[in-house]
Amino acid sequence: MKPTIVTAALPYANGPVHIGHLAGAYLPSDIYVRFLRLRGEDVVFICGSDEHGVPITLRARKEGITPQQVVDKYHSMIKKSFEEIGVSFDIYHRTSEKIHAETASDFFTTLYNKKVFTQDESEQYYDEEAGLFLADRYITGTCPNCGNTNAYGDQCEKCGKSLSPADLINPHSQLSGKAPIKKKTTHWYLPLDTMQTEWLDKWIRSHEGDWKNNVFGQCKSWLDQGLQPRAVTRDLDWGVPVPLPDAKGKVLYVWFDAPIGYISATKALFEQRGDKDGWKKYWQNQDARLLHFIGKDNIVFHCIIFPAMLKAHGDFILPENIPANEFLNLEGDKISTSRNWAVWLNEYLEEFPGKQDILRYVLCATAPENKDNDFTWKDFQARNNNELVAILGNFVNRTLVLTQKYYNGKVPPRHALHDEDKACIDEMRNIPEKIEQYILGYRFRDALFELMNLARVGNKYLADSEPWKLQAKDPQRVETILNISLELTAQLASIMSPFLPFTSAKLLSMLEYHSMQLETSCRQSIAGGRASVE
Ligand code: MF3
Ligand code: ZN
Repeated sequence: MKPTIVTAALPYANGPVHIGHLAGAYLPSDIYVRFLRLRGEDVVFICGSDEHGVPITLRARKEGITPQQVVDKYHSMIKKSFEEIGVSFDIYHRTSEKIHAETASDFFTTLYNKKVFTQDESEQYYDEEAGLFLADRYITGTCPNCGNTNAYGDQCEKCGKSLSPADLINPHSQLSGKAPIKKKTTHWYLPLDTMQTEWLDKWIRSHEGDWKNNVFGQCKSWLDQGLQPRAVTRDLDWGVPVPLPDAKGKVLYVWFDAPIGYISATKALFEQRGDKDGWKKYWQNQDARLLHFIGKDNIVFHCIIFPAMLKAHGDFILPENIPANEFLNLEGDKISTSRNWAVWLNEYLEEFPGKQDILRYVLCATAPENKDNDFTWKDFQARNNNELVAILGNFVNRTLVLTQKYYNGKVPPRHALHDEDKACIDEMRNIPEKIEQYILGYRFRDALFELMNLARVGNKYLADSEPWKLQAKDPQRVETILNISLELTAQLASIMSPFLPFTSAKLLSMLEYHSMQLETSCRQSIAGGRASVE
């Protein structure tokens, strides 16, 4: 069995996570990983806080605290929220850890020694008052592409175009508000242009049809425009120091160190497990699979730049797939941290205690898998009432109540089968197979829809066979119907576990379904076999 590494984008530790993050990367990856674990696959699920970069230093300035204080605060907050919503990382690490600095530093040194980088002196914007070069988000100005007057030095959030500070019209410093001067500085560059011709173009294009259309389309447009060398260092004092003697005051670009965080987190995980070299079986094994779950703003970094780094290094595998999602809007408006337009996960968890699965359900059902999508509270309410309660809850409730009433909670025997029983049993085999195919194809919405269909099958079965009317005149028939309904309930309880882990656990314990049986049942039902609670 192939070992699998599943990574979810490392969130910036400069604020809490919101439902857009959850629907984009964390929930789909969690569903996928939980499903692989059910199948008994060898998988590690890696995440952690991205603790470098300009947004963090900017926030520290704004709040009058140090960058370390910023990341400490948000790292624990984010970690706790993920635990509470049931995102089951094997490790939630952080890029301010020593093992990460060492790993990132070594990575840079390897590339440097292999003469991968080009070195270039250029004029860059500098804020004389603050005494700082204005990298990335330290500088804003007008976007040359769409005219947005608040574009950042690395990207315009309005049109999504990736920028460099020199592209901005009317640039000004985020620190002093003033127009910057230009000053000479030296940086190291990853020559994506030559890599494109050498292998990158071919490698990416070979994934047409296999990577999602939204992902492949974005990559293709980058390739068609022609890749440019990318600076991998910055003049900043917050980050992993550039490990060269002539690089004082310089750190690795956050997008260089952060993805290496996936590797350092895996190392940390296996150190915790007392198996120091265990990480190599994943990252340095041509049979292993690497999968990155991200939001669409991270596509270029995970499909182009990080693979370029990995390949240049030479000791690591390249990603097999990058199932990126598009964006989730909130009530018709773009989610925005600066305008505080978001449903923050920590706030949801406080306001809806014990209701994790409702949010998981709604976000999976409305996930922006192929295009941007909208979250509304009205839809949240409707899906809870009309789907979770009226379909799933209703079926389970009727089955368990009748079993209690007629058989004192014991599973009744099964007798001769009628056509409607056989039809129900067929669906119990077919639907889990569909769910499996959808999950493996990263189509979590479709998979969830099929899960609900399984509950619909149960409701229809009960409604058509009406066991409550037969108990007096044909008790044997009722036994069969409830036996099958209980099997379906057990089947639902196990197959729902990747999506609704809390409800699944509750239901399995109500059924007194033991873990041994659970595993067998899941594997069987996933393989399209029959799970039985007889
Ligand atoms: N912090 C980035 C973001 O929130 C994601 C970093 S992903 C990694 O957009 F690969 F760099 F780790
Ligand atoms: Zn723009």
